[in-house]
Amino acid sequence: MSKNIIIAIDGPAASGKSTLAKLIAEKLNFVYMDTGAMYRAITFIAIRNGVINDINSIIAIAESIDIKLKFENGITHVFVDGEEITDFIRTPKINSKVSDISKIPDVRREMVKIQKRVGKNCSLVAEGRDITTVVFPNADIKIYMNADIDVRAERRFKELSEQNIKITLDEVKNNLKERDLIDSGREDSPLKKADDAFELDTTSISVDSELKKILSFVEQIKKT
Ligand code: DC
Repeated sequence: MSKNIIIAIDGPAASGKSTLAKLIAEKLNFVYMDTGAMYRAITFIAIRNGVINDINSIIAIAESIDIKLKFENGITHVFVDGEEITDFIRTPKINSKVSDISKIPDVRREMVKIQKRVGKNCSLVAEGRDITTVVFPNADIKIYMNADIDVRAERRFKELSEQNIKITLDEVKNNLKERDLIDSGREDSPLKKADDAFELDTTSISVDSELKKILSFVEQIKKT
């Protein structure tokens, strides 16, 4: 039986993580795990239950929620207790709250538990903010992605506009800056580059050019 391979990718919002992770997963037939979708799902349920400012209720949600991610045709479908919530987790409202929810240590502990469990059983590509540092510190390949804030804001603005979400470029940029600050500044597992992560700046290169390199690393690992 061949060994399971874990590819861990961290970086700020809109740095190109999802694009790269999905491409790798599709090429290698690995499981793709979008951990941001999990924190988004909890945020959505907390808002819907009217408890977004009640830490204990949010922790109770994280402890009891049944989150399932299903990656199909380039989209991560998100199910909570059997209900699909995919279309509701990438709105400006969720964007404005998700970093505050994901800095709660008990919420993180529950999500990390699920993520580690998935990683025990398959080869996977996981992306998030603490994947290379906390969830899979011994991953076979670790990548830290980044890009200039203006480039990231343009990318995210384009994605939201394509979904007919009314928002200005400035609002998108401010949300990214605010999330960067909270995600990198929190006490529990802040976003940072792991010492042994390979750094990839996508300000002026496309991820396609790096894909080949990563796939050849994986081939080497498979042979060892
Ligand atoms: O990757 P994303 O933009 O969908 O993530 C949404 C938020 O979730 C992000 O701003 C911080 C949080 N997050 C986290 O704290 N840890 C992760 N592993 C993934 C996401």
